[in-house]
Amino acid sequence: MNRLVPADGAGIREAARALAEGRLVAFPTETVYGLGAVVTDDRAVARIFVAKRRPHHNPLIAHAADRAMAAGFAWLDERAERLADAFWPGPLTLVLPLKTGVPVSPLVTAGLSTVGVRVPAHPVARRLIEETGLPVAAPSANRSGRVSPTTAEHVLRDLGDAVDLVLDAGPCPVGLESTIVDLSEPERARLLRPGGLSRERIEALIGPLEGVDGGPVRAPGLLGRHYAPRRPLRLGARRVAADEALLAFGPEPPAGARITLNLSPRGDLAEAAANLFAMLRRLDEAEVRAIAVMPIPAEGLGEAINDRLRRAALPVEPVA
Ligand code: TXA
Ligand code: MG
Repeated sequence: MNRLVPADGAGIREAARALAEGRLVAFPTETVYGLGAVVTDDRAVARIFVAKRRPHHNPLIAHAADRAMAAGFAWLDERAERLADAFWPGPLTLVLPLKTGVPVSPLVTAGLSTVGVRVPAHPVARRLIEETGLPVAAPSANRSGRVSPTTAEHVLRDLGDAVDLVLDAGPCPVGLESTIVDLSEPERARLLRPGGLSRERIEALIGPLEGVDGGPVRAPGLLGRHYAPRRPLRLGARRVAADEALLAFGPEPPAGARITLNLSPRGDLAEAAANLFAMLRRLDEAEVRAIAVMPIPAEGLGEAINDRLRRAALPVEPVA
């Protein structure tokens, strides 16, 4: 049986105790809600994969309270230090070499010699990890293949009784998952997933990032259709039909849709990112033939917004 708990001091302490006892706790981060287990607890980490119906070859991000905790299990080189200085805590995950001999469950890394590390900025996430005293492995708290949850209600709707406790702190301010940069090889810096921190801000510090299309993708969760609503998505829409829903952007959406939600009437990409998943969920519940989506500019956070929309628009694949 799960419980929705307000994210106040008592709630956070209760959640930390639950984590220490091997239970699964969903908690808010500035990006999306995560489904957490202590990284050293094989059995609890295994339950994350069951709860999400996630394939075991897809590794989890280890969340640390601060850089010192992160450096306890991962090697940060000079580039990683520079990015951590600028963007931690915040929506940036670094894929780094895993230190040997550290008690991180091999299920967290899917047996890889690298580990995804992030120091979240949300005060509730940080206090929860501090209180727990150990890094917390946490994928987004949705069923595998669905849109990530940006509210506690989304978590309950997706995971139901598979989660033991949900810390509720309202909507997530960024609304898109973290940007993932792979620095595990000394001469390469690869953008594995665009996200809540724009490519431009990272490149300003460490130079150009190799793209996700330029080679074999080593983040197994990044392949194919991922952020999947039930209705077909029609991207780049400038007109809309009467039996469609419209996901609009900017001050002048076309008229005529059965239902319209506007990501940002003033055309602000950060506002659009924060609204994206919740609005996709709401439109997906409407009785419409398809969801039409207006064009979104490609720069800044637009890269991640367009990435999620493209994945959501792909046809269903016959994969696990
Ligand atoms: O914002 C976020 O990143 C959220 C919050 C909860 O922190 N978490 C999140 O986790 O989005 P998840 O599991 O939904 O996505 C993490 C992605 C997956 O695609 C996984 O394959 C990749 O990170 N990943 C994790 N560890 C990796 C590693 N060692 N090498 C390559 N990719 C890795
Ligand atoms: Mg996810």
